[in-house]
Amino acid sequence: MTEVIRDVASLRMLQASWRRAGESVGLVPTMGALHAGHMALVNAAREECRHVIATIFVNPTQFGPTEDLNAYPDTFDADLQLLRDNEVDVCFAPMRELMYPDGFATTVKVAGLTEPLCGATRPGHFDGVTQVVAKLLNLGAADRAYFGQKDWQQLAVVRQMVRDLNFPTEIIGVPTVRANDGLALSSRNAYLSAAEREIAPSLNRIIRNAAAQIARGHGAAGVCEAAAHELIKAGFQSVDYLECRDAKTLQQAERPAKGTARVFVAAKLGKARLIDNVSVG
Ligand code: PAF
Repeated sequence: MTEVIRDVASLRMLQASWRRAGESVGLVPTMGALHAGHMALVNAAREECRHVIATIFVNPTQFGPTEDLNAYPDTFDADLQLLRDNEVDVCFAPMRELMYPDGFATTVKVAGLTEPLCGATRPGHFDGVTQVVAKLLNLGAADRAYFGQKDWQQLAVVRQMVRDLNFPTEIIGVPTVRANDGLALSSRNAYLSAAEREIAPSLNRIIRNAAAQIARGHGAAGVCEAAAHELIKAGFQSVDYLECRDAKTLQQAERPAKGTARVFVAAKLGKARLIDNVSVG
């Protein structure tokens, strides 16, 4: 039975009892609108930890002023049912005032990794992510926390923050879950019309082709430029970025060694901004 907790004291009490019993805890931070991708995080946590805490909090500080905060899907009852079906111990769903009370003044900023890709096209986004993830890691007091590789840059930024600030939680990256046609599962896929949903899988197909060409020795810049044109031809309105970068440093990679780089993309389709990334070689 999944217990819903909305306050810090109850969460701390439960954690203290688990800790006294020497039982491990896995944390799965989410913004709700849960799907099979989130359940892959939950399942990874359940395999490795005695208890699982999933958090549901649509974090306002990681949305830009023109982004989809108010439209973000709210499916709390269905989310809770999914967590129950997947044997999650606790759903921590704090109110906004608990996370950001009046007078809240602290930010956490990771330099470097936050600058390219989504950092360039969504200014301030990663400062919001590190702010809330730092809080959730402190509140969760978990042995391990689970993040999806679809948000590869977010995972890299969180790892850097945890290393730099000595958070005791181990960060685990979980492979992207995809629909049969290759589209990465995302809460934002809910924004797609039926016609857009038909177009959406070309995102993954096109970056996989680009990655294969780069792996065969073609220069990344030319390949990525052509791939961005293909996306527009396929029906995407605009491409925020389509780039080949080192998987760890996120520096541009023109002719990367096998397995060291990834092709990253963010592109707009209707009301959705979709992101994806695949390995080169
Ligand atoms: O990946 C997400 O859903 C969010 O960025 C996270 C990690 C839950 C922080 O709000």
